[in-house]
Amino acid sequence: VALAGVAAAFAVLAAAAAQNPSANQITFSEHVAPIVFTRCATCHRPGQVAPFSLLTYEDARRHGTTIAEVTESHFMPPWKPDGGDIEFQGDRRLTQPQIETIQRWVAGGMPEGDRGRLPRAPSFDAGWPLGEPDLVLSMPEPFVVPADGPDIYRNFVLPTKLSRDTWVKAVDFRPSAGGVVHHAAFLLDSTGEARQKDKADPLPGYGGVMGGGLTNGPASPAELVARARGVAQTSPAQAAGRAGGGGAIGGWAPGGGPKTLPDDLAYFVPAGADVVLSVHFHPTGKAEREASKIALYFARRPPTKPFLIVTLPPYSGAFKGINIPPGATQYTVTDSFVLPADARAFAVSGHAHYLGKELTLTATVPGHATMTLFSISDWDINWQGTYFFKDYVSLPAGTRLDATIRYDNSAANVRNPFNPPQRVTFGEQSTNEMGMLVLLIVAGQPGGAPTLRTALEQHLQDAVRASPMMGGRGRGPG
Ligand code: HEC
Repeated sequence: VALAGVAAAFAVLAAAAAQNPSANQITFSEHVAPIVFTRCATCHRPGQVAPFSLLTYEDARRHGTTIAEVTESHFMPPWKPDGGDIEFQGDRRLTQPQIETIQRWVAGGMPEGDRGRLPRAPSFDAGWPLGEPDLVLSMPEPFVVPADGPDIYRNFVLPTKLSRDTWVKAVDFRPSAGGVVHHAAFLLDSTGEARQKDKADPLPGYGGVMGGGLTNGPASPAELVARARGVAQTSPAQAAGRAGGGGAIGGWAPGGGPKTLPDDLAYFVPAGADVVLSVHFHPTGKAEREASKIALYFARRPPTKPFLIVTLPPYSGAFKGINIPPGATQYTVTDSFVLPADARAFAVSGHAHYLGKELTLTATVPGHATMTLFSISDWDINWQGTYFFKDYVSLPAGTRLDATIRYDNSAANVRNPFNPPQRVTFGEQSTNEMGMLVLLIVAGQPGGAPTLRTALEQHLQDAVRASPMMGGRGRGPG
């Protein structure tokens, strides 16, 4: 009966369309605006990262042909993860019918249609979407991004002045100037190291990707290697201070809203810590003065469980001896980790610089087919983000996580910063390389977290011991 009803409804529609050709016509007001307003305008509006606005019929018509091209090719909206086995929150990809609607609109001459049918243009409230923050941190002084030139990686020290240890539930971010901030990471530093780096640099902040080589804890990779060689002792607890990236409260990329951790999970921000705002600026053709703000929302009480950060390989690959010959297209770094206890994963991200090409994280549950947790087959340093799974992904004890990062150091890699290609080794400059996949997990059973944490500490120790930095005893990547 229901099906017959649907068929009848279609028949009526088809008859109406036959009588009135315009009913068949794809118009901006009726069909395209609802797509553009909800899926494009978050970035395509004044003051945002996209190069033009998409808020009116005129805007859309002027760029219509390109819009049809870039939506069909999936270049827009930007969304890097391949469609894998797991669904993500906030998936920006258009559906096939939406893509076809745009194609038909452009092929049909881009009619405006009945303005009476235009949905209301989206409004972007000037307030914080999550309400009044508990703490707003601002860059102490604006940083001038020139009109053009290379991308700039810069770190700004924002003292929290928190008098007590604090749990942070959600973080939001707001750039001040027209679209120069391409992405930002929020790191923590309680050692004063970032302040020193800032002081040593005459301009606001200091240079470098992701904290600019901030050791951010008890030991740098070189120190850990020295300790493992027996020059000094490292305790697992010390190592763990670094192992999990142990000092970050998320990040931001254009079009991204505030990020709230699931359940009662929260980030730990020690009293007196500095937030190090690590920004990738992309000049826009117009000089800008950028003074971003970070909004923090506190948890009312400490979380009932911790979350753990699985970083494969540890330290962004610092111990892997990354050393990529010019021309290499198949240079690969891999790392694996077996979960010793049940876990549930809730978010994933990856990191590499310009030569990174393909990043993949899979999970193999014993006795089951391997599932892809995350895969980017055309990595772009400009579109880094943390992707939250729609639901927790259950990873029972014994699950093996496999991370693979493939680099392309040939001239065919359009993002290769060197022409002709040069040998590239590990380092924090954007023209050096790094590589890792990061999975955020909670223990699947009460009391499971210490087991998982100990195994992660051991994994770091093993990575240090196996490193080519240990004097050639370890094997470098192939
Ligand atoms: C998350 C932010 C974001 C969203 C959402 C987004 N765009 Fe874009 N768009 C950009 C940025 C940034 C650029 C500039 C890209 C570049 O230069 O690499 C761009 C560029 C474009 C271009 C110019 C491409 C070219 O090659 O000249 C078109 C057309 C476009 N976007 C259309 C769309 C449409 C249509 C949608 C929605 C269906 C959309 N975009 C959604 C950020 C976004």
